[in-house]
Amino acid sequence: MSIEDKLRLLKQKQEQAKLGGGTDKIAAQHKKGKLTARERLELLLDPGSFEEFDMFVTHRSSDFGLDKQIIPGDGVVTGCGLIDNRVVFVFSQDFTVFGGSLSEAHAEKICKVMKAAMKMGAPIIGLNDSGGARIQEGVVSLGGYADIFLLNTLASGVVPQISAILGPCAGGAVYSPAITDFVFMVRKTSYMFVTGPNVVKTVTHEDVTMEDLGGADTHASKSGVAHFACDSEAEAIFKIRKLVSFLPQNNLDDPPHITASDPYDRIEDKLNHIIPDTPNKPYDMIEVVKLIVDDGDYFEIHADYAPNITVGFARLGGRSIGIVGNQPAHLAGVLDVDSSIKGARFIRFCDSFNIPIITFEDVPGFLPGTAQEHGGIIKHGAKLLYAYCEATVPKITVITRKAYGGAYDVMNSKHVRGDMNYAWPTAEIAVMGPKGAVEIIFKKEIDAAPDPQKALDEKVAEYTEKFANPYKAAERGYIDDIIEPSQTRPRLIRALGMLSTKRDSNPPKKHGNIPL
Ligand code: HXC
Repeated sequence: MSIEDKLRLLKQKQEQAKLGGGTDKIAAQHKKGKLTARERLELLLDPGSFEEFDMFVTHRSSDFGLDKQIIPGDGVVTGCGLIDNRVVFVFSQDFTVFGGSLSEAHAEKICKVMKAAMKMGAPIIGLNDSGGARIQEGVVSLGGYADIFLLNTLASGVVPQISAILGPCAGGAVYSPAITDFVFMVRKTSYMFVTGPNVVKTVTHEDVTMEDLGGADTHASKSGVAHFACDSEAEAIFKIRKLVSFLPQNNLDDPPHITASDPYDRIEDKLNHIIPDTPNKPYDMIEVVKLIVDDGDYFEIHADYAPNITVGFARLGGRSIGIVGNQPAHLAGVLDVDSSIKGARFIRFCDSFNIPIITFEDVPGFLPGTAQEHGGIIKHGAKLLYAYCEATVPKITVITRKAYGGAYDVMNSKHVRGDMNYAWPTAEIAVMGPKGAVEIIFKKEIDAAPDPQKALDEKVAEYTEKFANPYKAAERGYIDDIIEPSQTRPRLIRALGMLSTKRDSNPPKKHGNIPL
């Protein structure tokens, strides 16, 4: 064979591999409103940066006529590429080949890029679109899933792992994305469930649609399994690129530090008037955050789940930061089961990847009630506490208003190794709110008074003046400084600069036992 013939053969084989399941299946994929595996990678990676691995890998099965259906690549496109010039490893399942189902060879390809991501210290991004285990291969396929789960677990906290669910993801297959750090879903085309609607109907007699059982909105707002529900695949992929821009490549790397155009010394007068005069009136903590961070650019995560706490990434003076904020605009910013879990997971991600955490605190306490107690608020609230306690990254707190009770301790207080703890003059740092406190400690006195209401009001005013302020805590050094709200941005940027050389560690151990 001449070299020309050899080159022609190579080209022919490459083109065949790139067609996956063929033009009809590609058309069917498009008809469902879905992109192909390769089109998705083109959107995800910097133009022309994709380096493909294992294009010619095929399955090795012969049962059920599989030996007559051999498609190069075997239903998953893998390799590496660039996002904003930084290396990422990728796999993108190809639904046009056996419904993207996972064979032994398909799993080996995924494991190969995951291992490469860990060795090279770069994020791994999985674009999932699969009918699950390749049914014809039986237990070999299940073994392939387990190999992936193990690598997901080993890679956790070593490199960022991001999953996009862009089609079906059912059965045990859901557990790989579930172990990863961030899950993106697309409305109306992506589904995650352990068992589908038919099995649900048989077992529990419930009638439920795919969308209600495991669609993007369900997982982004009810179960919390998904961090983002997007309207299109393009939106999901654009958001993955943006997310990656905040992250370091691995646990030994620092997050990217870019040149900020927003002046570091920007004073924001609006912040001086953002806290309402009445303590029970809500305001939007996200507005506070946006007024402070670079260019008002706050990349919120898990926005639709437990909105009484807000978490997300932003930059201050060009440095990536993780933000945790109580949100008085939802349930008064109270801590409950879901918000504790949401906050804890985010804090642990930031701590794994050297991203400083800034906490904006306005929390009346933990939510009372049987639903919360029976739902395990004790162990779930403990997760948030544990996550703050063990985190060794720079940790800064700004108490904007309420810091009551146990929630004061939990939300990165000085006592749990907060590095810089600021309070606005509007802060109220105490064991509980004035009315509740007075009703307990002055109960007898108030009941015996000729005018109990007047006595109560007087005691509330006295308590408020004495305790519902930041000065008692500042006298003890529990607050490093009381700052004018308008100056929060420059103060935080300076603190981050000072903390950039922070070194702290926990006692040596195999791993802790976070209350799960
Ligand atoms: C082999 C599969 C497949 C699978 C789909 N296909 N799923 N081939 N193994 N798991 C093939 C179909 O035969 C079909 O081939 C092509 O992919 C497209 O599938 P369609 O059914 O035509 O597509 P659609 O109507 O969009 O439905 C998609 C689907 C459905 C909802 C995913 O295919 C489906 O229910 N598949 C089975 C899902 C499942 O039960 N998987 C096993 C789960 S258990 P042709 O040649 O006709 O185009 C599991 C265990 C993991 O995954 C455990 C890990 C621990």
